[in-house]
Amino acid sequence: MNKFIQSLPKVELHLHIEGTLEPELMLELAQRNSINIPFNSVEEIRDAYNFHNLQSFLDIYFQGADVLVHEQDFFDLTWAYLLRCQEDNVLHTEIFFDPQAHTERGILFDTVVNGIDRALNKGVSELGITSKLIMCFLRHLDEESAFKTLTQAQAHKDKIIGVGLDSTEIGNPANKFERVFKQAIEQGFLTVAHAGEEGPADNISEALSLLKITRIDHGVRCSEDASLVKQLVSERIPLTVCPLSNIKLKVFDRMEQHNIVTLLRQGVCVTINSDDPAYFGGYMTDNFVAVNNAHPMNKAEIAQFTFNAIEASFVSPSEQERLR
Ligand code: HPA
Ligand code: ZN
Repeated sequence: MNKFIQSLPKVELHLHIEGTLEPELMLELAQRNSINIPFNSVEEIRDAYNFHNLQSFLDIYFQGADVLVHEQDFFDLTWAYLLRCQEDNVLHTEIFFDPQAHTERGILFDTVVNGIDRALNKGVSELGITSKLIMCFLRHLDEESAFKTLTQAQAHKDKIIGVGLDSTEIGNPANKFERVFKQAIEQGFLTVAHAGEEGPADNISEALSLLKITRIDHGVRCSEDASLVKQLVSERIPLTVCPLSNIKLKVFDRMEQHNIVTLLRQGVCVTINSDDPAYFGGYMTDNFVAVNNAHPMNKAEIAQFTFNAIEASFVSPSEQERLR
């Protein structure tokens, strides 16, 4: 089955580009940009990737992102990820970036977005991999900072298709960002949000009702509310689930306890994604294999994850045809 999974065409919908920073590139960029990091080797970096919850990961993730300074750094980061996509037969990817993780340290918004965008364009022309870019607001920062970020995005509406919400879920409810999301929608951005990763099922319902999002990132805690699961099925509201991430951040203790295959069989539009693959130990194929090892599926079920991802993607109907 692993051969089938490897060759299966894939679509990724939940991927933080800063979370693809492999230790080798982190060390190279730290040296190139004279940034001090508390690690001297790839082994030391990998040894630090022992997380006990979302926050313990986020602390290391933001620290790692500090080595990204110049447009070329963002290009190199994105290009390395696209080459991994090619290995895993990922045909289309919708990428998050966290502008505030960089603008807060004095890096220009334009530097970040132009570097990523240049690599994505090269991905289309040289690898045939299509993509969309989604800008996430950091939910631990305030509304004012999110509004400022939305303003900075105005000059890049040709490059950014939507807005999302990530970082610390607990203590930062959706209503903090209701007005920003309303304005983003009025400006033509599509909307998604992380919800129900560490927080309860209510966070998912609130993100749907207050932020008017069209798909949910993670959302695995929906299972705690049967009426919510029913709504997800009947309205075909997609979940971008990240199995290896959920194990690394202890959302589930073991993959055998993960609910993704149950949700699939209940008719929820669930998809498989890698989230922050450099930190969580696997890209797309690794995530599919880990799920199938713990919850053996037939080929039609495995392929359904790709059909779901095509349906849940932000590509046009004609682009959807190409992916099918
Ligand atoms: N959850 C919240 N914020 C994040 C994540 C995540 O899994 N990855 C990167 N930022
Ligand atoms: Zn995420």
